[in-house]
Amino acid sequence: MAEFQWSDDFSVGNAAIDADHQGLFALIAELHAADPAHIDLTEIISRLEAYTAGHFAREEELMKKVGYPDFDAHVEEHEAFVEWVQTVKRTYRLAVESPFHISDTVNKHLADWLVSHIMKEDMKYRDFIAINKA
Ligand SMILES: [Fe+2]
Repeated sequence: MAEFQWSDDFSVGNAAIDADHQGLFALIAELHAADPAHIDLTEIISRLEAYTAGHFAREEELMKKVGYPDFDAHVEEHEAFVEWVQTVKRTYRLAVESPFHISDTVNKHLADWLVSHIMKEDMKYRDFIAINKA
């Protein structure tokens, strides 16, 4: 879907971070194209856990390296996302909600994350990377 298409406008100027973001854009596009009733949530949750573990660590290391001043607030957003993934995992495992409802919630939350975090918060450290040539 075009609305979840990564473009150079979203580049933070670091190849590894851009590659991570492209992966998340692709995952979100894949989820939105899929039938929510037939999404393999176990697989999606595993992919999100792997994504958060690798990507957030890389991004936080980079922000420290370039002396990004809003580091703490940014890390708090990452921690909230990690917690959200764990909540989804528990909700699914305990069958508190129907898989259809969980899939729908995951789709919406990821689309929101893309807009509110990647397109806004991550863009804020782009200038610091450019200045420091990280
Ligand atoms: Fe981030």
